[in-house]
Amino acid sequence: MIIAQISDMHVVAPGKQLYGALDTAGYLARAVDALATLKPTPDVALVTGDLVNAGSPAEYARLRAELERLPFPYRLIPGNHDARDSLRAAFPDHDYLGTSGFIQYVDDSFALRLIGLDSLDDGKVPGRLCRDRLAWLERMLATSDRPTVIFVHHPPYLTGMGHMDGQPLDGAFSLAAIVERHPNIERVLAGHVHRSTQARWAGTMASTCPSTAHQFVLDLNPGERLDYALEPPGFQLHVWQKGGPLVTHTVPIGQYETRRLV
Ligand SMILES: [Fe+2]
Repeated sequence: MIIAQISDMHVVAPGKQLYGALDTAGYLARAVDALATLKPTPDVALVTGDLVNAGSPAEYARLRAELERLPFPYRLIPGNHDARDSLRAAFPDHDYLGTSGFIQYVDDSFALRLIGLDSLDDGKVPGRLCRDRLAWLERMLATSDRPTVIFVHHPPYLTGMGHMDGQPLDGAFSLAAIVERHPNIERVLAGHVHRSTQARWAGTMASTCPSTAHQFVLDLNPGERLDYALEPPGFQLHVWQKGGPLVTHTVPIGQYETRRLV
């Protein structure tokens, strides 16, 4: 099984640019172009939040137009920049999004069980996993011991990036207590920090995916400042071979020279 992960697309409305400078929809288009040409074709894409920048219907329509070009299915979860109602309205055929409440779901149709979590705390940048959302996760984990990947926008661990660590995920310790009790959880996938990070966490491995657009400057000092950088954007491929671990490849998006060696 191959899981593609893209994150933090921050799509803006047609005619606009993020921060007046970034064509985030164009960046997403290039990510989709790269994913669409992969051989073998991924089984599914997990799209881990901050799908659009301001939660508007126009942004979600533009997001959908790009994602529809993927030649394989994709699953969406919200980030702090998303709005559940507008998201659902733009993807009415994505039944797993539900019709109200948090956007959390289990997908048992792949070799790895997929569980999406909703860490959006309305109107706030930091994420939250409240008692209700965590109780739902516990109930779902109790129904199967299949190898499982959990995906959630906000990483449950501190990355060392000062600005981000000042806004930790509310509920992360409770999530860790749950995850620790389930050794079948192969990975917790996240986004939000616009960089690739990995951590041993709660008895499993947790990781974050780069943004398809702008990356956050790696600043390991505490502080309020947050800058973005036009480092190569990227996506991740999580490759699961029978009997082996889930292996992650971080793939920069762009044209790079290749030469045959053998
Ligand atoms: Fe983001």
